[in-house]
Amino acid sequence: MLLSLDVADREVVVAGGGAVAARRVRALLDSGARVTVISPEAGDDVTRLASHGDIRWERRRVRPEDLDGVWLAIAATDDPDVNLMVARWASDRRVWCVNSSDGFSTSARVAAVSRHGDLAVGVVSEGAPDPSRVARVRDSLGALLDEGQVDLRRVRGRRGRVVLVGSGPGSSDLITVRGARLLAEADVVVTDRLGATGLLAALPETVEVINVGKSPDNHPVPQHEINDILVDRARKGLTVIRLKGGDPFVFGRGGEEVHACVEADIPVEVVPGITSALSAPALAGIPPTQRGIAASVLITSGHAGPEPAVRAALGHGVTVIVLMGVAALPAFVEAALEEGADPSTPVAILESATTARERVTHGTVSDIVRIAGEMAVKPPAVIVIGKVAEPELLASALAATPRP
Ligand SMILES: C[S@@+](CC[C@H](N)C(=O)[O-])C[C@H]1O[C@@H](n2cnc3c(N)ncnc32)[C@H](O)[C@@H]1O
Repeated sequence: MLLSLDVADREVVVAGGGAVAARRVRALLDSGARVTVISPEAGDDVTRLASHGDIRWERRRVRPEDLDGVWLAIAATDDPDVNLMVARWASDRRVWCVNSSDGFSTSARVAAVSRHGDLAVGVVSEGAPDPSRVARVRDSLGALLDEGQVDLRRVRGRRGRVVLVGSGPGSSDLITVRGARLLAEADVVVTDRLGATGLLAALPETVEVINVGKSPDNHPVPQHEINDILVDRARKGLTVIRLKGGDPFVFGRGGEEVHACVEADIPVEVVPGITSALSAPALAGIPPTQRGIAASVLITSGHAGPEPAVRAALGHGVTVIVLMGVAALPAFVEAALEEGADPSTPVAILESATTARERVTHGTVSDIVRIAGEMAVKPPAVIVIGKVAEPELLASALAATPRP
């Protein structure tokens, strides 16, 4: 029978201090157990855990009375006879015992476990122990959950909630594992235009998808209506995933959506995402900071224009990253020159990063406006102004490296 034990704050004895015992101790600590290791000697891991006070370590041989009053015993010495003895003492006292050296004279077996939000997958072998086989099964099942391939919508105990999920710059495999898993719990997905929208195609047909995407001059659903949709659906007891491009809190209006939920007394959580501000440059081989070249980075929006903080950054060699900045590019370039930036300061424009329309355009403060015009650069784009955008720094080397 496969049971899930709550060992939090419960006394567990581990006989043995070697590698097997250390693995068991780690799992027990992860579950919040109070662990006593009993062993004349111990390996580095157990010794360090004891020195930090994470466990108690009694440096002696295990005795029958060590099992009095404990909830669980682990027999993990390197002597199978001792382990068998511990298993018997435990059985006499009606204490569940895992015998690590004999899968058959054991009253309990440890499942290979992986955790996925509020779900745990546990796999045990009911035949001869074969830990790596069991682990493979656990990993395969866990991967299905993490990749969002299992319908995780709640049937019982539903309470409406909103989760703001940052889905990254666009490519479906740049969403976080947590984000993908939560998407599989969605009753409703309220989606942006940018981000990992390719994932929507794989949702069950019964999931309601509401597209509230904006483009530069087209905001068909105003923000207050988006907030209302989130609150309204959650009030119906539904799990609402607000799928957002990049990170929810980087020019994503995530803060307003959180406020709307809090005001309406709707539980809300945020799953961070990989922002395009940093990932589009990274993928083009542009490090926003680089030792000896740029120690600071400023992320701004083209809508705000070159405000004083941006001007100061442009004049002091700080890397300036502009989102929503295609139309404002001439104003930023002009501000850079006015603030005394070298006209040869590199500029890179990264369009539609990680999508099929991805394109990288390089220039300098003096010629990027002309080049962008000739190339008909279009949003969405991230603009990087600063020495780190010099193609010879990393970008050329990375471009020349074949990708598998
Ligand atoms: C409203 S902001 C949202 C930013 C998002 N929250 C983030 O963290 O990436 C939209 C802007 O992000 C940038 N952007 C988003 N995805 C992009 C991508 N795949 N490639 C280039 N720029 C992108 C563009 O500047 C676009 O105009």
